[in-house]
Amino acid sequence: MRLSCTVNGEKREVENVWEGESLLYVLRERMGLYGSKNACEQGECGSCSVYLDGTLVCSCLVLAGQAEGCEILTVEGLAEDERLHPVQEAFVEAGAVQCGFCTPGFVVATHDLLQRNITPSEAEIREALAGNLCRCTGYEKILDAVRLAAERMAAS
Ligand code: FES
Ligand code: FES
Repeated sequence: MRLSCTVNGEKREVENVWEGESLLYVLRERMGLYGSKNACEQGECGSCSVYLDGTLVCSCLVLAGQAEGCEILTVEGLAEDERLHPVQEAFVEAGAVQCGFCTPGFVVATHDLLQRNITPSEAEIREALAGNLCRCTGYEKILDAVRLAAERMAAS
């Protein structure tokens, strides 16, 4: 089948998509957008998080066909004019990255949280990131990054 959708503001068309392919597979293997990671392919880790028509989803659980005509925003699309998004900057500055495999998912989930709630409580941060797993950092630096991003975005 042919898939037509908008990805990070650009119209994209992909031919010969198999009905069983996931949106994550299409983004990575057919569109070359390697930011979204494939860590579990079971909806358990959040590494593949993207926006689908404005809703945060695990792209490994979305069939490519479900994205037909949709707007998709990936971690690559958060930066504007070659400038990192404040959430991306905060993750770099807080040192919230070790192997980096979970990072794109945490960045997208944090972006989603701060769009909805620019002054989240500790509990709200933890709840928003509950679907994202990190095997390296122990989470403290990630939480620091979220707090830093929230502080900066609230002040701007
Ligand atoms: S790869 Fe999609 S949730 Fe883990
Ligand atoms: S930094 Fe390695 S899984 Fe999170």
